[in-house]
Amino acid sequence: DARDSLKLLDKSYPTDSWTNVPSTISRLLPRRLHLQPDHPITITRRLIESRFPSFATHNSLSPIVSVHQNFDSLGFPVDHPGRSRTDTYYVNQDTVLRTHTSAHQADTFASLGASDEGFLISADVYRRDAVDRSHYPVFHQMEGAMMWSRDPSGSSSLSERIWADVEKLRRLEDVEVSDPNPTVHPERNPLQKYHELGDVEAIAAHLKRSLEDVVREIFAAAKAVTEPGSEGEALKVRWVEAYFPFTSPSWELEVYWQGDWLEVLGCGVVKQEIMIEAGAPDKIGWAFGLGLERIAMLLCSIPDIRLFWSQDERFLSQFREKRGDDGTYQVNKFVPFSKHPPCPKDVSFWLRGTSSAGGGTKGNTHDFHENDIMELVRDIAGDIVEDVSLVDEFTHPKTARKSMCYRVIYRSLERTLTNEEVNGLHEKVRGGLVERLGVELR
Ligand code: PHE
Repeated sequence: DARDSLKLLDKSYPTDSWTNVPSTISRLLPRRLHLQPDHPITITRRLIESRFPSFATHNSLSPIVSVHQNFDSLGFPVDHPGRSRTDTYYVNQDTVLRTHTSAHQADTFASLGASDEGFLISADVYRRDAVDRSHYPVFHQMEGAMMWSRDPSGSSSLSERIWADVEKLRRLEDVEVSDPNPTVHPERNPLQKYHELGDVEAIAAHLKRSLEDVVREIFAAAKAVTEPGSEGEALKVRWVEAYFPFTSPSWELEVYWQGDWLEVLGCGVVKQEIMIEAGAPDKIGWAFGLGLERIAMLLCSIPDIRLFWSQDERFLSQFREKRGDDGTYQVNKFVPFSKHPPCPKDVSFWLRGTSSAGGGTKGNTHDFHENDIMELVRDIAGDIVEDVSLVDEFTHPKTARKSMCYRVIYRSLERTLTNEEVNGLHEKVRGGLVERLGVELR
């Protein structure tokens, strides 16, 4: 029975009250843009992979993972918001579409051979989120990790061995690094009870140098297309303290690019519990995760994330994987094939229910989540929707009912839309809001 099961990548999964994967999403599972030759996501992946030549790569792991892999194994608390059905696609209660490549960390650590030093995992990931030019419910991430054995057979200590590896990394003259915080901080960025400060200092240095090298390579390629001649100028980067349930200490790396600080990746020292659980208690190391679309967009000057999904030759034919004589990646700048006009339409409605029954204002809105609107519009308008945003909201002083107004911007990247077409879509959106979300149109 099709209603009791969900078919994903030719396999059937039992469904239950947690299931929330729409067909607009399940249709995209086979696409795997990170494996499509000459696709900007693939080119970006290969550029980063080229900076870690000794690492094993895992690029075809299934996107369908257990709740344990995606959350529990990484130490996410049971009440973490990322676990909610408003943020995550559930196949059923125990199974999700991975929300990040970290879902594969524990399994990959468990399968590491004695001589493996590091790995990279690239994959499609799935999140319910806003609709705008930089968010799409399916995107691609790369995870990287590197490990050292804690009980060496030789005579040098762990930190000596790690520092020796730091020395092997390329020295970067053209990166200006700001890193004002101490490696660990008792409240903000604690040392794990399993670790020695000296070892963590060495791992942090190796992690930071390796990732500075990656962003240097990316931004050198990006500069060559956007500001030719400025390639020799120093790139400004800064390390910011961060928090992830599965690393400590943790950081984010930000890069100064076209007047803004851009967050490029998250990283840290892997929580030892994960290594213990993976049967590798005597390994210690670092991990990072980054979003490939964000990088591909600036690398190739791609203005809208929907373009990555385009099957239009006018988009696809613009990219070819290319390396210079010195092995560095060369990318081309995307030339928009045409610019079609945006078509904004507003929709206003009252949320279901009132608070007069004593439920407080919460009773009004407990079952409303903005991501439901985002998905409904995408479901109906597909890639013709560019942006959905809240433009007005108020609560009626007498009835305490809440009113919201959303603006939907329709625009095709491939053709000019007709008035009738947009009006038809917007009518369907209005109808869908009533039928599926139970709101009352104003
Ligand atoms: N998985 C994290 C994210 O999606 C990124 C990350 C990976 C952070 C590995 C630390 C280590 O935001």
